[in-house]
Amino acid sequence: MHDIAETAGRLTLQERAALTSGATLWSTKPVARVGVPAIRFSDGPHGVRRQPVDGDYLGAGHSAPATCFPPAVALGASWDPALLRRVGAALGQEARALDVQVLLGPGINIKRSPLCGRNFEYLSEDPHVAGVLGAALIDGIQSQGVGASLKHFAVNNQETDRLRVSADVDERTLREIYLAGFEYAVKTARPWTVMAAYNRVNGVYATQHEWLLTTVLRDEWGFDGVVVSDWAAVDDRVAALRAGLDLEMPTSGGATDAELVAATVDQTLKPAALDASVRRLLTLIQRATRDPGAVEFDAPAHHRLAREVAGQCAILLKNDDATLPLHPGGSIAVIGELARTPRYQGAGSSQIVPTQLDEPLAELRALAGTELPFAPGYRLDTREHAPELEDEARTLAAAAEASVVFLGLPDADESEGFDRSHLNLPANQLALLRAVASTGTRVVVVLSNGGVVTTSGWQRHADAILEGFLLGQAGGGALADIIFGVVNPSGRLAETIPVRLPDTPAYLNFPGELGHVRYGEGVFVGYRHYDAVDGPVGYAFGHGLSYTTFDYSDLTVDLTGRDESLAVTVTARVTNTGSRPGREIVQVYVSAPSPVVRRPVRELRAFDKVVLEPGRGVVVRFKLGWRDFAYFHPGRSRWTVEAVSADIQVGASSRDIRLTGTVRLPVTEPRLRITPDSVFADWLSTPAGEAVLRREMLPPPGMGHAPFLTPGSRRTMGSVPLRRMARFPGAYLDPGKLDRLAAEVNAANGAAGSPDAAVS
Ligand code: BGC
Repeated sequence: MHDIAETAGRLTLQERAALTSGATLWSTKPVARVGVPAIRFSDGPHGVRRQPVDGDYLGAGHSAPATCFPPAVALGASWDPALLRRVGAALGQEARALDVQVLLGPGINIKRSPLCGRNFEYLSEDPHVAGVLGAALIDGIQSQGVGASLKHFAVNNQETDRLRVSADVDERTLREIYLAGFEYAVKTARPWTVMAAYNRVNGVYATQHEWLLTTVLRDEWGFDGVVVSDWAAVDDRVAALRAGLDLEMPTSGGATDAELVAATVDQTLKPAALDASVRRLLTLIQRATRDPGAVEFDAPAHHRLAREVAGQCAILLKNDDATLPLHPGGSIAVIGELARTPRYQGAGSSQIVPTQLDEPLAELRALAGTELPFAPGYRLDTREHAPELEDEARTLAAAAEASVVFLGLPDADESEGFDRSHLNLPANQLALLRAVASTGTRVVVVLSNGGVVTTSGWQRHADAILEGFLLGQAGGGALADIIFGVVNPSGRLAETIPVRLPDTPAYLNFPGELGHVRYGEGVFVGYRHYDAVDGPVGYAFGHGLSYTTFDYSDLTVDLTGRDESLAVTVTARVTNTGSRPGREIVQVYVSAPSPVVRRPVRELRAFDKVVLEPGRGVVVRFKLGWRDFAYFHPGRSRWTVEAVSADIQVGASSRDIRLTGTVRLPVTEPRLRITPDSVFADWLSTPAGEAVLRREMLPPPGMGHAPFLTPGSRRTMGSVPLRRMARFPGAYLDPGKLDRLAAEVNAANGAAGSPDAAVS
């Protein structure tokens, strides 16, 4: 196939319709007559799940072996786009080697509730982290000539009723939280395909949502690839194509192709809509088959990469009295079934067959150079206590200076397809922990879980907690590296660990009822909620310890340009003040108030990972733009920045801000845009407004001040729109002048926004 237009022109109506749905579970239909080959899709996202032709869809059993990299929950904790680009490139190579042309990932849906059964497949509760890291994965995959599929577009944040539920979300929340990561990834990494989600958004199926698939995705963001449906997500094929969905997957056995043909013939579907999808599909097929050269992948090298990556994903949550790292020669017991039966990936469509699998126990023994004693302590297939297993573990722990206790969620507790109902570890595991801790041994807890678990009920029994999430096939080795100090931990939480489920932002609105889930918490998701209510958290967004320490100093903030060409350069010095080399994630939050809408206390706008030898420092530089200060104005339906003072906060987590600078934003948009319908108090809220009303509200000579300008009246009349007030006999205000007066006040307020910055 050389010329897309020419090839498209040679296809019959039936062939064009047929091209827009799958031939099998995983592949598109070839059209041999005009030289159009089939292409193959495969999950996705943290490894290539190349199923045989008669594959079992959600099962992994028969897939070809491929490297199981850490799933997104762990990758998100690396906060490292360069690392994710390398993972993406390795995934792309494996896809090539396994004859897969489009890999179904990454998934960047926001972790709205910690209960979502698929949170292990998603990167963060924050759209900036999800967007930047998702874009890096896409970049890496596509650098190998393999397409990525950015999913699940959009607002797919739960598994309960996922094929029908309507996510009911206001536009500001959509734009600022649920679409922002997709927007970033689409604009910067240009994925070849985007996958439309199962759910409805405000009543309309995502696969049939013209505003999402065409207005926003293509017209606003410039997406020029193929929109593919999630598997069996299409409800009405004609409506879907009309809305901008190009490819229905998997096969519909031809039934929906016939619907498209009929709709084109009876002209309920414009032929141009089908033609546009065909052109986009032919472009994808051409791109994906351009370089058919066979590629092999080096499985041992990818396993080593998986170990290196996993080592940068695990998070040291707690480390009292420098319990970790342990000395390999010390007296150490290893406890917990998960040490020899690791959980390293989540269940469902992303599940793959690894090329090899590291067991933490074997890896700890290998690094220690000795047969460390082990007791399983509990069973994974039950929550019931097993007193003999507990006794055996207690005896081992009593004889050891330190016990490494592996705890986590059993496979059955979380999966694609259903949500969790609580945040707790199994009771038998907690009983084991108490038994081990009662011996006086130092306790290191290592966690394996795809969704967060609360630590508040048991963390007093642990001297150190290492949160591994799900670390992929080489996770066992990576955990051993961290436990023995070969690797200094540098993972940071990309999602808040709550104290209790009822504290979580979506608690009252998750997972909804009667076919609807109301996103009542609005933009206050994750740390945006906890910081707004100043509520307790188990561990804050961005938190993670290291075996060394870092100092932050010398903040500078420089401003140039104004309005949409505003550019803010932030620099800060970060110094390794401890005794080991280490990595720090430097986080930049913006706190921009608005007099118009309630905004989060702070929002992450930039981050960077620095690698520092002991005693060394580095100046980290960030660029922020107009959009980093903006919110989506619901009334005006556009991004807005007002002339306010905003704080720039640099720190090590959302709750550990080390440096703060203040900028007065040089924008023409007044702090508050005044109209004749603005209330009296708003008119009086700026010096310019006050001056104008004092000048205009003139009672007859001899009466003194206008009665409404006395202190008492200003309060009682504060909520009256000026247009109405002007009708009052005592207002002494000419209703015919109000438009002109509003313009005068707005001009004066906008002009007040002169550039200026200060740091503290
Ligand atoms: C999942 C997608 C996946 C697809 C193909 C669906 O059930 O939601 O993420 O890519 O199946 O396996």
